[in-house]
Amino acid sequence: MEEIENKLKMLDPTRIPAHVAIIMDGNGRWARQRARERSDGHAEGVNSVNRITRFSSDLGIKYLTLYAFSTENWNRPQAEVDTLMHLIGWTIQRETPDLVANNVKIHILGETDRLPAEVRKSLLDGVEATAHCTGLNLLLCLSYSSRWELTRAAKIIAEKAAAGEINPADISEETVTEALSTNSIPDPDLLIRTGGEQRISNFLLWQIAYSELYFTPILWPDFDNSAYLDALLEYQSRERRFGKTSDQVKNPSII
Ligand code: FPP
Repeated sequence: MEEIENKLKMLDPTRIPAHVAIIMDGNGRWARQRARERSDGHAEGVNSVNRITRFSSDLGIKYLTLYAFSTENWNRPQAEVDTLMHLIGWTIQRETPDLVANNVKIHILGETDRLPAEVRKSLLDGVEATAHCTGLNLLLCLSYSSRWELTRAAKIIAEKAAAGEINPADISEETVTEALSTNSIPDPDLLIRTGGEQRISNFLLWQIAYSELYFTPILWPDFDNSAYLDALLEYQSRERRFGKTSDQVKNPSII
């Protein structure tokens, strides 16, 4: 507790990232280390989801994006896919009243048509029940991959061009951004990956162009508030240059 308070004191409240995205990895290894089923690791991972969502809200973060199930995760053994789907649907159903109470708005990103009907229903009920919330935006990526999203964006733009609604010469970065499922949501400031791997795994490839990347060996079920604060403190220690020089960043009047 004292450790958390000390870290909180070190955190600059004026430089809290607006948008944090997380690749939650390591549930399976967490379970294996305890000679338990992988599903136990995922169930424990849900506790981390709840904890990190609540803490993000308390810290005043505006957007938290969680990679909960990738397009590639459909290739896992059917029993694990079923367990994860059930867990996700059930968790959203169970947590929705608490999310409403905490003013958290749920958004779903991904190919939701592929989700089992009852899971889709729980999710849509959660989206509807929290639609009026104005605090933290919780973006759940489900059956999501960045290449799926970019391919879909290409189709949306091509259809508009074919219908004469847009001139191909006028297609800009904004056109692409608007056609993504993240649409008007600002790009992540910080991308965290737990579980020790140092890769992006088809997550938000367009949106993380200038995000700060943070990799930690801590497995997702063990990623507690103290570990989260370490990531936020590291983020605050970095200089974000967006292609400019360090001198320009320190003195914006330099052109
Ligand atoms: C990666 O660990 C984790 C996942 C594929 C699933 C993450 C999902 C949850 C934590 C549940 C989310 C729930 C809600 C409501 C958002 P892994 O299985 O790849 O771990 P390993 O690399 O150690 O095998």
